[in-house]
Amino acid sequence: MAIIGKDINQAKEFLRKKQLVAIPTETVYGLAGNALDEKAVLSIFETKNRPSFDPLIVHTDSLQKLEKYVSEIQQQAYLLAENFWPGPLTLLLPKKEIIPDLVTSGLDTVAVRIPNHPLTLELLAALDFPLAAPSANPFGYISPTSAQHVNQQLGDQIPYILDGGECGIGIESTIIGFVDQIPTVYRLGGLAIEDIENVIGEVAIMSHSSSNPKAPGMLKSHYAPRKPFFLSERNNMPQPENGLSAYLLFDHFIESIDKKYQRLLSPSGNLKEAAHNLFAYLRELDSQPIDRIFAEFVPDKDLGKAINDRLKRAAAID
Ligand code: TXA
Ligand code: MG
Repeated sequence: MAIIGKDINQAKEFLRKKQLVAIPTETVYGLAGNALDEKAVLSIFETKNRPSFDPLIVHTDSLQKLEKYVSEIQQQAYLLAENFWPGPLTLLLPKKEIIPDLVTSGLDTVAVRIPNHPLTLELLAALDFPLAAPSANPFGYISPTSAQHVNQQLGDQIPYILDGGECGIGIESTIIGFVDQIPTVYRLGGLAIEDIENVIGEVAIMSHSSSNPKAPGMLKSHYAPRKPFFLSERNNMPQPENGLSAYLLFDHFIESIDKKYQRLLSPSGNLKEAAHNLFAYLRELDSQPIDRIFAEFVPDKDLGKAINDRLKRAAAID
């Protein structure tokens, strides 16, 4: 079983030996390995059971180090980096040769991010290589937002989980790439589009497609619980007579249903709190002796857009 602890040096030793360590970030926990070492990167794919066509995010702790891994940081990318790093933003930038093709699944851009978590920043500062880290969950399942979540699913496959407590934001980073110079959202996430547009003006949003995914994280079936999961507006929410149903709701209960089968993402209607609770509540409901989960949309603004995106993917609808 994995050791769960806060010892940066121990984490560093495992990583130097090309082993994998789960790391906390402000978004979700990552399954980290030396991004410059093919063997370590390969074992990330194997441990997650992740198809090799789904590229990884490279994490570092400074723009200075980043310059070793990317060949260009365009003006808009630079503005975003300056404003939002360390933070829940991933940029797709042209890669330098030092980044193995395995990391980028053969693409000529590499996804990079400076995460905002004190333990992980300290670890990155102590390393002389960057960390490739996808979310630390088996491919297709809900991302982990605590060391315990990681331990439940990957604990018997990795030696160390660096415990940084619950992830503050709780939803993966927003991914921005540049398509013909136009800043484009590849994945909605923990940094709201409104905040990004305040800095660089209007951005394009790539439409999700499971048939031709530019970013395979856009596959509809991502982030899914194992229980049947249905998403609808509140007034269309079914109350079936057979079996037990659980309800994942935004800010108030359904009066006609026993409260023990309902979870409120944010009783005060706060989208940040809702994002923080989303994956933990989905996991919790998924482990209950119930037959299905119903969820409702949250308000479609700020982090609500990313929450609705994850709910849609969990329900596998467009
Ligand atoms: O918040 C996060 O981003 C977390 C933490 C650990 O940093 N990481 C994360 O990684 O969510 P992952 O592997 O679960 O999702 C990364 C997404 C995938 O959907 C992948 O397809 C996309 O990033 N991606 C990576 N490199 C890409 C590239 N060069 N072009 C397009 N999409 C890319
Ligand atoms: Mg993931």
